Amino acid sequence: MKILGSFPKTRLRRLRKSNWIRNLVSENNISNNDLVLPIFVRDGRNKVESIKTMPGVKRYSIDKLSIILSKVKKYKIPMIALFPYTSENKKNKIGSEALNENNLICKSLKFIKKNFPEIGVMCDVALDPYTSHGHDGIIVGDEIDNDETIKVLTKQALLQARMGCDVIAPSDMMDGRIGAIRKELDKNNYKNVSILSYAVKYASDFYGPFRDAVGSKRNLTKDKKSYQMDSRNSTELFREVGLDIKEGADMVMVKPGMFYLDIINKIKNNFKVPVLAYQVSGEYSLIKQGVEKKLLKEDAIIESIISFKRAGACAIVTYFALEVAKKIRSIN
Ligand code: PBG
Repeated sequence: MKILGSFPKTRLRRLRKSNWIRNLVSENNISNNDLVLPIFVRDGRNKVESIKTMPGVKRYSIDKLSIILSKVKKYKIPMIALFPYTSENKKNKIGSEALNENNLICKSLKFIKKNFPEIGVMCDVALDPYTSHGHDGIIVGDEIDNDETIKVLTKQALLQARMGCDVIAPSDMMDGRIGAIRKELDKNNYKNVSILSYAVKYASDFYGPFRDAVGSKRNLTKDKKSYQMDSRNSTELFREVGLDIKEGADMVMVKPGMFYLDIINKIKNNFKVPVLAYQVSGEYSLIKQGVEKKLLKEDAIIESIISFKRAGACAIVTYFALEVAKKIRSIN
């Protein structure tokens, strides 16, 4: 592109001179509508428990979910993402708790849909919170078997839809699962339940704190590189996203977020579907600790969130959702 203008006639600092003009020419802004808050649920009663690896984030028993959901409602955050902390005695090799109608996710869905019907709920489709080995799928021999896993995932998705889930979010990275899930949902007349595919999900060390939060870390013996993407690559995103859209995904997710802004941008420029970014647990914990130790100012949080919008994301899944929503409200 030809550079327009020249110094001294052109002075780019004119448009940065004061707050009002910076606001006037700003290209990206963050609103409460751009946020999705992940919430961890656990069993028991009267439990609100801190998570060592994620300062400020808590696990709630269902009877205490209102504490956080009333804030989500107050700050008008459109959607939450539910994750279960399943007790060890309910885990097994095939993750059968995922299909239990009374598991934590099902019970939470019923509670939320009854008491907070205005909040959208998204649920992960993957087996890792339920398997004794911490993997997202079924192990056959020494591999995570793609097709056997899909058989369970379609059932898990259908159960979530039956319990009132609005957005089914397969985060397992099996090939072909979007098509199978869409077919199962349609067959059972859940044609209006959406699918947000974690289409571009990298094998990442930045998931570490999350695995602690859902209790899958201890169990995980091998990494997830045989199904999650290789962080050295970007070309395969065209096939990952292209196939998922063909199979029926309504929206796609990029995960992790901050170190993958190039990926978000490529999807935005090449596909006409909503792209969401997941600012994952490791990204959250790094920034949060930086702020707590006063190495960073709180504004660093907003800066990190804006970067996703600039890259092309329409929304951001972030453990900072409530803090950000509060902050924006006090600015406006
Ligand atoms: C499970 C899942 C993971 C995350 C969301 N869903 C972890 C993983 O794939 O190991 C990570 C979220 C985060 O780190 O905040 N499939």
